[in-house]
Amino acid sequence: MRILVTSKNGQLGRSIQKTVNADTKIGNNQTPNEYIFVGREDLDLSSESSISHYFGNNDKFDLIINCAAFTQVDKAEQEEGLADKINHLAVKQLASIANKQQARLLHISTDYVFDGESGKPYSETDTPNPINAYGRTKLSGEKALQALMPMNALIIRTSWLYSEYSNNFVSTMLRLCREQDELSVVNDQVGSPTYAADLAGAILEIIEHKKFRDVGQTTQIYNYSNEGEISWYEFAKEIFKIEKIACEINSITTQQYPTPAKRPRNTIMKKDKIVNVFNIKISNWKFSLNTCMTILKQKQ
Ligand SMILES: NC(=O)c1ccc[n+]([C@@H]2O[C@H](COP(=O)([O-])OP(=O)(O)OC[C@H]3O[C@@H](n4cnc5c(N)ncnc54)[C@H](OP(=O)(O)O)[C@@H]3O)[C@@H](O)[C@H]2O)c1
Repeated sequence: MRILVTSKNGQLGRSIQKTVNADTKIGNNQTPNEYIFVGREDLDLSSESSISHYFGNNDKFDLIINCAAFTQVDKAEQEEGLADKINHLAVKQLASIANKQQARLLHISTDYVFDGESGKPYSETDTPNPINAYGRTKLSGEKALQALMPMNALIIRTSWLYSEYSNNFVSTMLRLCREQDELSVVNDQVGSPTYAADLAGAILEIIEHKKFRDVGQTTQIYNYSNEGEISWYEFAKEIFKIEKIACEINSITTQQYPTPAKRPRNTIMKKDKIVNVFNIKISNWKFSLNTCMTILKQKQ
């Protein structure tokens, strides 16, 4: 397959590149796929003409993996128009192009499509009800994709993504604890962290799976995160425990930490669908956090 991956500089895009490169090195590429990784400089998803120009000037793809997004949740409140272009209109255009090229589309979405008010873990069929601009634009992207591609596409909703790359909760906590002796972290928002390398591995397994490769498959949504349910406070505590940092962490409420965008209180997602359909093994969040932090240490 000739595979286009957007977001070559983002956490997930970089994690996919790293896994593909590692698989190639050990001769583990089951099929001879050709990967093309693009960033904003090659394909600007906020611009309809840039998207048309890119696909008009390149050979056809068999699969598009869309990891790019406007991901700044607070900034999206002020810039919903731009977020909508990238998270919704670009996805719609990619779906239309994928249809024309008879390509598959694998698109990444978010737990923030939910309002977080459910008392139980969200399944893929639960009704979304975003409570912030980022969530609204991501949901519009999902809906546009499903309307244009009732077949041959797949959406993965993930949550609390972190990695050894760029800014994320883990790197922010490590930076803050070097600058301050005491930190306050919210303890009443619950979810599941996702190590981007694990999600990258799952994506690469899925695209090799017969159930994905067979033509004419109905478009489906799948949830994916690491196993385990925690608050941001518990996440921070574990980061400091692994790093052996004696930083005081105060447990605070969302009310004590106001942000421009509202956050859903509970976005734990059920993952049995992705496990059963694609036989994906999911690691516990503590195990994956340890792996990521070991890699971060080696980089220092
Ligand atoms: N981060 C999370 O906690 C989280 C949680 C749930 C779901 N997700 C979803 O998971 C996916 C991957 O997230 P991530 O954390 O890997 O994202 P990320 O690290 O923030 O990277 C986002 C990427 O999108 C690119 N991008 C932004 N605007 C663009 C534009 N106009 N044209 C082309 N590229 C553009 C950025 O390019 P530049 O490098 O040039 O800025 C960046 O590389 C996204 O769909 C996101 O919505 C993320």
